[in-house]
Amino acid sequence: MSQPPSLQDATFRSLRDYIYAQTGIFVPDSKKYFLENRLARRIAENKLSSFDDYLPFLLSRGNGELKSLYGVVTTNETYFFREPQQFDVFTKHILPRVLDRKRNKEIRVWSAACSSGEEPYTVAAILKETAPAVRAEIIGSDISDGVLESARRGIYSTYSVRVVPPYYQQKYFRSMGETYEFDEGIRKTVKFMNVNLIDEKAVRAIRDVDVILCRNVLIYFDDKSKRKAVSLMYDALAPNGFLMVGTSESLHSVTRALQPTVIDRVVLYQKAGS
Ligand SMILES: C[S@@+](CC[C@H](N)C(=O)[O-])C[C@H]1O[C@@H](n2cnc3c(N)ncnc32)[C@H](O)[C@@H]1O
Repeated sequence: MSQPPSLQDATFRSLRDYIYAQTGIFVPDSKKYFLENRLARRIAENKLSSFDDYLPFLLSRGNGELKSLYGVVTTNETYFFREPQQFDVFTKHILPRVLDRKRNKEIRVWSAACSSGEEPYTVAAILKETAPAVRAEIIGSDISDGVLESARRGIYSTYSVRVVPPYYQQKYFRSMGETYEFDEGIRKTVKFMNVNLIDEKAVRAIRDVDVILCRNVLIYFDDKSKRKAVSLMYDALAPNGFLMVGTSESLHSVTRALQPTVIDRVVLYQKAGS
């Protein structure tokens, strides 16, 4: 039986640098095994004989293979109402402030790096419950087309819905045996798009956002790409808009442009007013 190909250090570094340049995701030397495991699927599927063949193959295939690469190098863990204290603060403090400022006219919320949609759908359900009369544009974006397809499909596992409050569970989910379908009406209120957070042109298409949720993605970036993504999101925010990162993350060494504010032990970053 032939041995599976192994990833040599020099090839690892070339692939790592390429992935970093395209996505901002930095794979440290200590995570070489991660890249080796994830890329093994691309090698096998494309019937390549070694990792050395992969980069030339990728460059010759262009966008199609690049999208598959994004599918394997990203970590897509997510679930409804993840980090619920942030959604409490969103509901009780951020939303009232934004609505007051906007005088209840349309508000815009962007779930940047939304994976399979649980985060923007959580926002959409909260908005439907707490501000049903307000017009809201909710955007869910990700670099990976595979997860965006799942998001549009709206079918979720027990794992994804396990911390959904019972009221929301009953009202917005239809049980289908082992899976749950998220309410179709609310699904339609979320616009999904492919946006790479370090792609200036793509991010510039999104403007005047009142709240950005960018949770659990910058942890995969190094400081330089964090700074780039945060500065592009800063430009996408409306004056007084809020940026929320994951509870374990901090923008302390990343930006001074956004003002950190703590509400009920949740840290938020706010853009100054105009
Ligand atoms: C761990 S999930 C976070 C999902 C959700 N925000 C949450 O907190 O539950 C990280 C997501 O970031 C996406 N991602 C990674 N690099 C990205 C980039 N450069 N631009 C946009 N999305 C990216 C991945 O595809 C993945 O779906």
